[in-house]
Amino acid sequence: MTSPETITIRRPDDWHVHLRDGALLAGVAPHTARQFARAIVMPNLSPPMMDSAGVAAYRARIMAALPDDTSFTPLMTLYLTDHTDPDEVARGHADAVFVAAKLYPAHATTGSAHGVTDIARIMPVLARMEAIGMPLLIHGEVTDAHVDIFDREAVFIARTLEPLVKALPGLRVVFEHVTTAEAVQFVESAGPNVAATITPQHLHINRNAMLVGGIRPHAYCLPVAKREHHRLALRKAATSGSAQFFLGTDSAPHARHLKEAACGCAGIFNAPYALESYLAVFEEEGALDRFEGFASEHGPRFYRLPLNEGTVTLERAPVTVPEEIDVGGTVIVPFHAGETLGWRLRS
Ligand code: NCD
Ligand code: ZN
Repeated sequence: MTSPETITIRRPDDWHVHLRDGALLAGVAPHTARQFARAIVMPNLSPPMMDSAGVAAYRARIMAALPDDTSFTPLMTLYLTDHTDPDEVARGHADAVFVAAKLYPAHATTGSAHGVTDIARIMPVLARMEAIGMPLLIHGEVTDAHVDIFDREAVFIARTLEPLVKALPGLRVVFEHVTTAEAVQFVESAGPNVAATITPQHLHINRNAMLVGGIRPHAYCLPVAKREHHRLALRKAATSGSAQFFLGTDSAPHARHLKEAACGCAGIFNAPYALESYLAVFEEEGALDRFEGFASEHGPRFYRLPLNEGTVTLERAPVTVPEEIDVGGTVIVPFHAGETLGWRLRS
């Protein structure tokens, strides 16, 4: 088979991104807006986006951080807490303030301190979301100190996710940034109400990238990268053509000095070369024909949003990812820093 020199796909979306706030927002958001038509924006700011007014104000700050002629649309999310009011959720969704709500188990990851301590406490909210067809986005890791960090996703499935989808079979769930073969298997065996996003880093690296030959903080994110057989399961799922898997970068920028520290932050900044990174995987897997589904079709269909108009083109050309990127005055080390990728997004 001859390999193409260019690939043109319908404009893609990022179904999971951290755009941050303040000065960082102005530096970060243009990278996502350059690559994607829309993005599901995570609400784990400090303080988190826990009510409609806060979410609407954050959306306005995102738009203000982008050029006036931008065609990028942020899709906002609400941060669930033990005290979230079902009526407020239904109202904010009906008013299109946010399209989904995010469940962070308390203390699971960056910015989750106000998250949900016990899913039983938010069952009325989740039942309402089931009734109105509003997607629930889940960071799927237990926080139990007795559970090994590499097992936290698999244990979450057994303890929390399986019982939840049994109790609320109509609830539309996105299992975010899946990292394990167990998660892939769970999603595949669940009905079409359950989907998952997959990040570029979990398709490219396993835990060796983080730990062999020295500790590499820029390969550290949550959920943490797992063993090789999990990475292979994720690559298979992403490139399978299944509508239950779609693109979500989990691009999560942190200043270089906050990652290169005794207690470094979790999060990988992959927004600047996200499409190039994913496309490398699809090519390696011999699945270039399935890239458009993953990047541009499965997500909107799950979220019941229109497919984007217009296209983007990537061309076969070497692109060297910089060692660091200045983002609104903050130095950040991007995913693939110093590596050369084989495709370039045409601007
Ligand atoms: C995210 C962040 O920094 O906000 N970090 C990460 O490692 N992915 C939070 C998250 O999505 O878990
Ligand atoms: Zn995230």
